[in-house]
Amino acid sequence: MKKYDFDTVMDRRNTCSMKWDTNPDTSLLPLWVADMDFSGPPEVIEAVRKRAEAGAYGYTVPCDGYYGAIIDWMKRRHRFDVKKDWIKFGPGVVPALNMLMHAYTQPGDKVIIQTPVYYPFFVSIKNNHREILDNPLKLRNGRYEMDFDDLEIKARDPQAKLMILCSPHNPVGRVWTKEELTRLGEICLRNNVIVLSDEIHNDLILRGYRHTVFASINDDFSRNSVVCVAPTKTFNMAGLQTSAIIIPDEKLRALYGDVLECNFMRRPNLFGIVALEAAYRHGEAWLEELLDYLQGNLDFMTDFIGRYIPQIKIIKPEGTYLVWMDCRALGMKGRELEDFMLNKAKLWLDEGYIFGDAGDGFERINIACPRATLAEALNRLHAAIKP
Ligand SMILES: Cc1ncc(COP(=O)(O)O)c(C=O)c1O
Repeated sequence: MKKYDFDTVMDRRNTCSMKWDTNPDTSLLPLWVADMDFSGPPEVIEAVRKRAEAGAYGYTVPCDGYYGAIIDWMKRRHRFDVKKDWIKFGPGVVPALNMLMHAYTQPGDKVIIQTPVYYPFFVSIKNNHREILDNPLKLRNGRYEMDFDDLEIKARDPQAKLMILCSPHNPVGRVWTKEELTRLGEICLRNNVIVLSDEIHNDLILRGYRHTVFASINDDFSRNSVVCVAPTKTFNMAGLQTSAIIIPDEKLRALYGDVLECNFMRRPNLFGIVALEAAYRHGEAWLEELLDYLQGNLDFMTDFIGRYIPQIKIIKPEGTYLVWMDCRALGMKGRELEDFMLNKAKLWLDEGYIFGDAGDGFERINIACPRATLAEALNRLHAAIKP
């Protein structure tokens, strides 16, 4: 018996929603930014409501409930034993990545990323006057893989100090295997490149795949890495801007702590930590149903595209709720493809080229929405492409 409702179409307009209230044309269906068009777990809503009713929204510190919830969740869901003092507060993961970059690199240093990748990675590197060192992923038989030979060369660059690993990977949807992560970790270790493992999508693993926490692989990797996690993607609470930055190594932890202090970033958002604790303590049943629903959406989309728009190839995701569509056979790229999606299909998606040059000709669609919304999007796409 299903307990939770993912089918109801919510009206998110006039809620200060980035997805729905910055829409340049209200006839567009927005399926771009990575939040979900579902209400979060009722257990989280209830905890936030209770705390809201208690009033007195004063200065807040992460308390035992916050740490305990993270430790138990990481152990139960991810078989990773986290010690309390490894956990540092993070506002969002992206602000934390920026601060980590400050902690471990100097202007002019190089940061390795694997494009096509979540675009704030390269925006952050550029804004902080560091340099991008790209280790592009390779698309082989419809599946993205890491290029370890190239990584070996890039990591050997004496200016390469950091690698931002996207695990699971947005937008290509790979859930990296332990073997792949081990090869990557060994290369980084040999070359003194610290690994920032952005694992914000760690709970959104489709059936049949298994996420490996980078730092859980061995002690050497644990000492050479930082793992960024958050309940914000998993439970649809990105607006609460809360994450946990797990740093097993004392020296790396102290350096991040210094940057937090510099920015006077000591105090979490009260509702963020209330929601984090409720989600990790009571949200698991909701998450399991969500994963089934997402799998259903993916199956529905795969069937629809295969039947009606076979020119588009779906890169089968193993995790996340983002689907990377290879649209190159439509014969359009860059702005032309963007214009087609916006003005002909009336869909607001994330254009592939914003994830790096290798993404040109691709589109990223967010399928964390009621099936009726997804069906509407696919019908629009079909109607626009039909001769
Ligand atoms: C890989 C990745 N990291 C970080 C974020 C955003 O993190 P936050 O909202 O905590 O800054 C996203 C959001 O889509 C993401 O996909």
